[in-house]
Amino acid sequence: MDNLIKKAAKELAKSKRVVALTGAGVSVESGIPPFRGKGGLWEKIDPMEFAHIDSFMRDPAKVWNILIREMKDIVDRARPNDAHKGLARLEELGILNMVITQNVDGLHQMAGNTDVIEFHGNFAWQKCLDCSKKTETFKISLDEIPPKCACGGILRPDCVFFGEMIPAEHLLRSRKAAYECEIMLVIGTSAVVQPAAYIPVAAKESGARIIEINPESTPLTGSISDYIIKGNAGEVMKAIVSEVEILL
Ligand code: APR
Repeated sequence: MDNLIKKAAKELAKSKRVVALTGAGVSVESGIPPFRGKGGLWEKIDPMEFAHIDSFMRDPAKVWNILIREMKDIVDRARPNDAHKGLARLEELGILNMVITQNVDGLHQMAGNTDVIEFHGNFAWQKCLDCSKKTETFKISLDEIPPKCACGGILRPDCVFFGEMIPAEHLLRSRKAAYECEIMLVIGTSAVVQPAAYIPVAAKESGARIIEINPESTPLTGSISDYIIKGNAGEVMKAIVSEVEILL
């Protein structure tokens, strides 16, 4: 692994056009469980029953009680780990241009990255189903479930539920970034949920080198990734950034 980290760092240190695609695994070391695999949320609850927009519209209280309430507790407490900090440092060094994340926890921005495409929205805000006014999640009281806006409308997380569209501007910017980057860092995603999973494929087709960081294999591992660094995101990113700093 050390050798792979050194090689990946050498490529990164030479580039100024790097984009990162991150998934739930990047936040595991911040205490946020992933969706799939060991300890995954979807092993405990069925996403079609609790994370589909139709389920929310049919019974918002049920979805708030089983899924959103717990998410709020976990996300409110989470802080960036060495993987988020490493990506922020790569931006500071002029190497990383953008983070495309499937996560809704806001940890990349908290760590200091300034251009973050939140493919699946952001849990930091709740939106009123009636008047569309947004309220910060940490300000919401859970005394009443589902929580309500001042106008009386039900609040929903400003995230993309299953059955909803990814905002068109996110799709376009991500696609453009994939076509233009020299290196794509793919960190902590199972790469099975479309359209996000297509982003590294588009990057590879346009000639980018793909550095994948994940303790497990993914559909990208065999054919798309040039470097497969099997390890935890925080640990690996810390080691990569130290190497890059030596090389600059
Ligand atoms: N460091 C790096 N990767 C890790 C770590 C870690 N410490 N721990 C787990 N992983 C990896 C797992 O091996 C897995 O490949 O992170 C990945 C997490 O996969 P998912 O839970 O499927 O997360 P993600 O790819 O982000 O899911 C995509 O699915 O249900 C939806 O909307 C949800 O945005 C999410 C989307």
